[in-house]
Amino acid sequence: MSYYAMTRILYLDAVNPNSRVLEQAAATIRAGGLVAFPTETVYGLGADARNPEAVARIYQAKGRPAHNPLIVHIADRADLATVARAEPPTALLDAFWPGPLTLVLPRHPDIAPAVSAGRETVAVRLPDHPVARALIAAAGPIAAPSANRFTRPSATTAAHVLEDLDGVVNLILDGGSTRIGLESTVLDLTGNVPVVLRPGGVSVEQLRFYLPGLTVAASAIALDDAAARPASPGMLIKHYAPDAELVMFAGPPAAVIHYMQHVAAQQSAKGRRVGVLGIDEDAPHFEELPVIYQTLGPADDLERIAHNLFAALRALDARGVDLILVRRPGAAGLGLAIGDRLLRAANGHLVEIGR
Ligand code: TXA
Ligand code: MG
Repeated sequence: MSYYAMTRILYLDAVNPNSRVLEQAAATIRAGGLVAFPTETVYGLGADARNPEAVARIYQAKGRPAHNPLIVHIADRADLATVARAEPPTALLDAFWPGPLTLVLPRHPDIAPAVSAGRETVAVRLPDHPVARALIAAAGPIAAPSANRFTRPSATTAAHVLEDLDGVVNLILDGGSTRIGLESTVLDLTGNVPVVLRPGGVSVEQLRFYLPGLTVAASAIALDDAAARPASPGMLIKHYAPDAELVMFAGPPAAVIHYMQHVAAQQSAKGRRVGVLGIDEDAPHFEELPVIYQTLGPADDLERIAHNLFAALRALDARGVDLILVRRPGAAGLGLAIGDRLLRAANGHLVEIGR
């Protein structure tokens, strides 16, 4: 890292954010600094979207490759015209904005090209969080990726941000743990048909109601039951990954659990510290084994599982495990996004138990 920033953390009430703290954060953004802030999905690492040097600092702080574009966050629907040059369907905006839906649209010339990694498009999001909205309203459009170091699980608390970005972010606004816990759904509206580029907080089923012609990019349907194995695991960029190796298992639940028990026993006998990440209902199956069982929540509560996912990966790292085993969730609703994050965290390592 070519510079060292003194990192300050300021607590903010998530419902009624203190205006003096917000003004300080907005001043930091306007001065070209980096501010990490809570949204309803994950924490963002923000900079002035109209300031190329500030935007460059984001890539540097995260260690993010320059070809991966950032999302521009706006405070109000009326601001859309200042960052993009298209009017998305009103019904879509009425349904999902503010919220965890990011739209890829033609880019407005005021937005620094580096935000879009040189593309003519820009990804835009209107977050549903009082702190994020107030900060953006005071500072102008904010370019922000998730506030984690490149390839690491996204940050869902201020402590996670500090863990990854201490010394490179000027200010962290601590608004508590983020509600959704998974990133937004990225929807590309620049082509002939709308395409989901990344599954996220808004499900594909929800979007189809408004966009019946919707398609899902191949990288995002790698987890559909019909196409369980990605065409090429090498196509998957390692992402959202804990320090430990992660392996995902798919197939009929009883057979998968049986196999995971076997791998857990075998690997711990070899001296590896094994963690198992899973639903509450699966925990008893691992009680007799020398593993650390990290629960995500009950099977029927995908929202809770999404909320806990990244924190659980970080928690297993903190407990020093070498290997994490996880069972693939179903692809319905939020399950598609949860499975997508896990497969990337596993660097594409999926074991299918056959029928
Ligand atoms: O929930 C979220 O989306 C969080 C919060 C902070 O808003 N942000 C987030 O940003 O997850 P990031 O940078 O981690 O992920 C942005 C995703 C990447 O997959 C990126 O490739 C895609 O959006 N993206 C951004 N701009 C794009 C563009 N112009 N065209 C296609 N994809 C784009
Ligand atoms: Mg990210």
